[in-house]
Amino acid sequence: MSFNSLKLKGKVDIPGDKSISHRAIMLSSIANGKNIVRNFLSGEDCLSTIECFKKMGIQVEKCRKNEMVIHGMGLKGLKKPTQNLDVGNSGTTIRLIMGILSGQNFESTLIGDNSIAKRPMKRVTDPLRLMGAKISGKEDANFTPITIDGGNLKGIDYKMPIASAQVKSSMILASLYANSPTKIIEKNKSRNHTEIMLKSFGADIDVSGNEIYVKPAQHLYSEDIYVPGDISSAAFFIAGASILDGSELLIKNVGLNETRTGILDVLKDMGGNFEILNKKYVCGELMGDILVKHSNLNSTTIDSKLIPRLIDEIPIIAVMATQAEGTTIIKDAKELKVKESNRISSVVSNLKKMGADIEELDDGMIIEGPTKLKGCNVESFSDHRIAMSFSIASLLASGNTNIDNTNCVDISFPRFYDILKEITY
Ligand code: S3P
Repeated sequence: MSFNSLKLKGKVDIPGDKSISHRAIMLSSIANGKNIVRNFLSGEDCLSTIECFKKMGIQVEKCRKNEMVIHGMGLKGLKKPTQNLDVGNSGTTIRLIMGILSGQNFESTLIGDNSIAKRPMKRVTDPLRLMGAKISGKEDANFTPITIDGGNLKGIDYKMPIASAQVKSSMILASLYANSPTKIIEKNKSRNHTEIMLKSFGADIDVSGNEIYVKPAQHLYSEDIYVPGDISSAAFFIAGASILDGSELLIKNVGLNETRTGILDVLKDMGGNFEILNKKYVCGELMGDILVKHSNLNSTTIDSKLIPRLIDEIPIIAVMATQAEGTTIIKDAKELKVKESNRISSVVSNLKKMGADIEELDDGMIIEGPTKLKGCNVESFSDHRIAMSFSIASLLASGNTNIDNTNCVDISFPRFYDILKEITY
């Protein structure tokens, strides 16, 4: 069922993947030699990562549009920063860099914006301390500012209590600097870009099922990197084209790493109409084009097994579920409470205002569909993915929808509104 008249049509190129862009800067900085990163995401979060490494003596130049050249200084080549390292709004920057800083022979302090100041860091502090890292900060180093006095790490065996690629990656990066191997066990597999890129840089890292083994490294050798389009950014258009009657959209060059494609599994289960074309591997990452057409969707259930594969897409999946026939249940998603905003309450409060039939759960939400959404004032909560999700919702809604502070989309998708305008008819 569809109530609207707007549709998405045409062809879009999706900007580079945020997670891979961060890792490209970090790993290239601690590798030996010059490296080119193509299709780099020049969003604010990734620029925060660049600024942190520049403060540690790494030279980074923009050579062409979306192309960065990084002059790596080797595993021990970073310099003690003379100022605090400011991660801005970026959870990936702070958590991954904590692993690298734990292995350095200097002290450094990490700070960030008001949202970062509320996000928990103990999940990283705890395992890094078990490896021997000396970390201090607010509330036993759960919150910024966080100071790390690096050096003398040992390998450990660690069973991850939460599914988090940021925690896993932080530990993997620290393991490169340890004096013995590390084993990390995940309950549900999270995104594995760190593992893929490190392997191509020559690190001794092995993955068997949900277990990751990392040996201490002597050197990393950088390889030029092409960053695939971000499926988490494509998600807004995938969902939009699925729920807006008459839509047909070709989304080009999207990363299709299976640790990230939960949204496609969900859409398939909901009866979505899409095809994957031109699949290929680039720099160890699968990518391809996605052709999406409108379809009448049915409800679905999303739980712990799927959550890490679509954690950032839940806000837009919730919008999609308001248009699906039946009861959609999203559970085991407590992690949403500690994202850039509390994404359970951000989504539920906005969708309620728009007239959706939605119930908030402690670990997710229940959505009854389909409902006609109505335009009103909603809040972005300064959260990029909330702003973009409700921009898509506004295309469905009757009347006008106003969203406050939509500039926050610059965190992950600076041209979002330009592109959306180009494909909306
Ligand atoms: C990311 C991992 C996820 C995701 C975030 C990016 C990464 O966070 O939500 O946007 O690049 O490793 P968690 O590790 O907290 O699940």
